[in-house]
Amino acid sequence: MLVEVVATSVNLSDWEALQGSPGYARFGGLRRPRRRILGSDVAGRVAAVGEGVTRFRVGDEVYGDNIPRLGGFAEYVAMPASALARKPSALTFEEASTIPQAGAIAQHAVALASPGERLLINGAGGGSGSFAIQLAARKGVHVTAVDNADKLDFLRDLGADRVIDYRVTDFARTGPYDVIVDLVAHRSVFAYRRALARGGRCVMVGGTLRTMLRMLTVGKLLGAVTGARLGVLFVREGPEHFTALAEQCAAGEIRISIDRVLDLAEVAEALTLHSSGTALGKVVITVSNG
Ligand SMILES: NC(=O)c1ccc[n+]([C@@H]2O[C@H](COP(=O)([O-])OP(=O)(O)OC[C@H]3O[C@@H](n4cnc5c(N)ncnc54)[C@H](OP(=O)(O)O)[C@@H]3O)[C@@H](O)[C@H]2O)c1
Repeated sequence: MLVEVVATSVNLSDWEALQGSPGYARFGGLRRPRRRILGSDVAGRVAAVGEGVTRFRVGDEVYGDNIPRLGGFAEYVAMPASALARKPSALTFEEASTIPQAGAIAQHAVALASPGERLLINGAGGGSGSFAIQLAARKGVHVTAVDNADKLDFLRDLGADRVIDYRVTDFARTGPYDVIVDLVAHRSVFAYRRALARGGRCVMVGGTLRTMLRMLTVGKLLGAVTGARLGVLFVREGPEHFTALAEQCAAGEIRISIDRVLDLAEVAEALTLHSSGTALGKVVITVSNG
């Protein structure tokens, strides 16, 4: 399908693809990127449909995550129909563009914790974390949220029971936690193990390649020996993983946190703002007038 983009949001994965770091961000081209235009999350209108597409028609309002192909920071982007869902009418294009990638991560992460359990989210003040805190709090999970000092009031406001400034306190020396979700993982498997309760589970979603390799090797062994589970959360893509959250946003049950909205000509500023450590929630780019 060809989508005329109305709004697109910045994800940490865009910044990682731009930098070629962590190492797995180079999977899309080892020496130079195969995709020249960044941008995964888009919301817009169907401009054309390919043969065999029956679910959508030209003019439909849609949103989705194009992470394997990118190209969303543009006026038009080609995407498979399977990546797209119809945009809820109660959401603006800007709001809808914040949901697909961060929402799918948040839904996968919160599914790991049961009501009454203690969940720690590291890197909680960004796109995924700001959704995950709210989903977890609504589920009756006790949430500890970790990010920099300027974001702690924001985290409390979203429903975190406890907040930790990562520049002051090492979360691995707090706890114990039943579930740890690390969105920016760079710690040793022993640090994570120390913070886990008996039978607890720790997953990294994003972070360094070294931590990922350790999680998949030493982490598995350590888990088998100590009864904890350590690993990597591989988030599945597609509307079935973000539309439930979007409905909750449309119903006003979950808040969408947009720090700033910029224009397409300001993509560089948007990426810089996202990486600056000051944005609360998402940075959005408006491409055309909805
Ligand atoms: N596993 C999968 O299948 C999958 C799928 C898609 C995406 N991802 C990955 O998921 C990750 C999460 O992305 P996101 O969009 O939620 O990120 P985000 O919006 O950039 O949020 C990350 C947050 O972490 C904070 N942070 C940075 N360094 C920190 C540290 N040392 N300790 C604690 N917090 C720290 C950042 O705050 P500061 O302002 O202080 O920097 C920011 O608030 C990305 O790495 C992405 O590549 C994984």
